[in-house]
Amino acid sequence: KRVVLAYSGGLDTSVILKWLQVTYNCEVVTFTADLGQGEELAPARAKAELMGVKPEHIYIDDLREEFVRDFVFPMMRANARYEGDYLLGTSIARPLISKRLIEIARETGADAVAHGATGKGNDQVRFELSAYALDPSIKVIAPWREWDLTSRTALIAWAEQHQIPVPKDKRGESPFSTDANLLHTSSEGKVLEDPWQETPDYVYSRTVNPEDAPDAPEYITIDFEKGDGVALNGAAMSPATLLAALNDLGRKHGIGRLDLVENRFVGMKSRGMYETPGGEIYARAHRGIESITLDRGAAHLKDELMPKYAELIYNGFWFAPEREMLQAAIDHSQARVNGTVRLKLYKGSASVVGRRSADSLYSERHVTFEDDAGAYDQKDAAGFIKLNALRLRLLAQRDR
Ligand code: ARG
Ligand code: SIN
Repeated sequence: KRVVLAYSGGLDTSVILKWLQVTYNCEVVTFTADLGQGEELAPARAKAELMGVKPEHIYIDDLREEFVRDFVFPMMRANARYEGDYLLGTSIARPLISKRLIEIARETGADAVAHGATGKGNDQVRFELSAYALDPSIKVIAPWREWDLTSRTALIAWAEQHQIPVPKDKRGESPFSTDANLLHTSSEGKVLEDPWQETPDYVYSRTVNPEDAPDAPEYITIDFEKGDGVALNGAAMSPATLLAALNDLGRKHGIGRLDLVENRFVGMKSRGMYETPGGEIYARAHRGIESITLDRGAAHLKDELMPKYAELIYNGFWFAPEREMLQAAIDHSQARVNGTVRLKLYKGSASVVGRRSADSLYSERHVTFEDDAGAYDQKDAAGFIKLNALRLRLLAQRDR
């Protein structure tokens, strides 16, 4: 029996690694994904080796380009935000991790995968729906739903009992739960559990406080091709490189902080704090380029589909036919979403201040307040309004 564990190298997944060996008496394969979380991954290898994982069973993969190219960018084409605000930074990473878990299970002849998400949250659902969609016969082990380690203290005691090194800063209560990747860092729990209390400054890790951001605004341009960002300030960049560069700018200007109470799929509300510096800039820029290149009908339909699409990703249905159907429609809409957006970054905000495109539908000739040289006949509007008003007048007559 063999199981592939999504292994961060942190205390929780180290305990899980050991627990799987002890409880299931099985061989553990570890998979650590580099999604741009900005942590050293070498210690994960050393720790896995220390716990007896065979070197050929330690997988550490750089998935940054795949993450941004095949998951973040397609999602951004939809302008997806869950419940109006959340840019889905954790939600969009889970299907990719599951995809790789299943691939590694096949490569190593494992019949099960395991993850460190709790039984209370969204992540368990996302990992597992993706895993089952990709391999209907896979077994999933979720230790948090099985073991009797119900508190942090019990977890640490168990770790010490089993010779798992516990870092000094983990001995006390861990202040909050975080998840990070190239798109965002999320924090939940502990000090954040009272939704009335403002998030303390020390919770933020990848943006400066907007109040301390530079007093001078910074102007940037992003070029889009078929709805995807391809260049920053005229310099061509790969998806992951572009997002990383936007993250640096967002950090400096304090962009992309969000304090949100959201509805988890399992039914409870949770309060989280998010930092999505590059993603926030990118999302605004994408809307900016769509504003001149998308027809109104296409744009408005996209906006109607978006909440559904965002909810599918939030709830873990990335590998579901309805998400793929919506994606096909969204991708189709992006064929002419080309051009350049200029943005102003200033103390927490990223504002679109300019846009241009060879595929623009914007017609200055039609919209001008000056003489339009016959482009538009204002008399046409009279009949247009009259017919649109017809039913309103009939209603008003009846109800008078
Ligand atoms: N509430 C967010 C979501 O459901 C973030 C979850 C964070 N996950 C974590 N393991 N800390 O997408
Ligand atoms: C967890 O429960 O493991 C993190 C939070 C979530 O998945 O929503």
